[in-house]
Amino acid sequence: MDKESVRIEFTVNNKEVALDIPADATALHVLREMLSLTGTKEGCGIGECGACTIVVDGKAVNSCLMLGAQLDGRMVTTVEGLATESGLHPLQEKFMEGHAVQCGFCTPGLLMSSHALLEEKENPTRAEIEKAIAGNICRCTGYQQVITSIETAVSERLDGENR
Ligand code: FES
Ligand code: FES
Repeated sequence: MDKESVRIEFTVNNKEVALDIPADATALHVLREMLSLTGTKEGCGIGECGACTIVVDGKAVNSCLMLGAQLDGRMVTTVEGLATESGLHPLQEKFMEGHAVQCGFCTPGLLMSSHALLEEKENPTRAEIEKAIAGNICRCTGYQQVITSIETAVSERLDGENR
């Protein structure tokens, strides 16, 4: 017998999508395997590493722990949705300039966790930045470059607003 499927409709990276998915598929599976949004990574698959972080209705979530069916009606941003036609997102630029990327496997998740924070708070403290990325494991950078890059993105945004 065919696996039970469910119809979902949601917005991902400002595009509306509608598709039938297996009822037991994770959001991560839907994004990577059914929509080819492979920027979101699968590390542990059990909510421990943060590599699969996406933003759903403004909140950073582990897509490996979310059912695809729960995407229905939601507004989703993945790492593919950060850059615009005019260029990379400031966080992406600062990660590159600040050497916050080595192997890069954790980077989409770190970007999405910090993006959710910067959308919520105009001027987060270092402690708030550390808390926001506490669920994102990086084996390479030691985190300092990541935190500094996020701080730089914040301060340049504030400078831009005060000009
Ligand atoms: S793959 Fe989702 S938290 Fe590790
Ligand atoms: S850059 Fe390699 S795991 Fe973070």
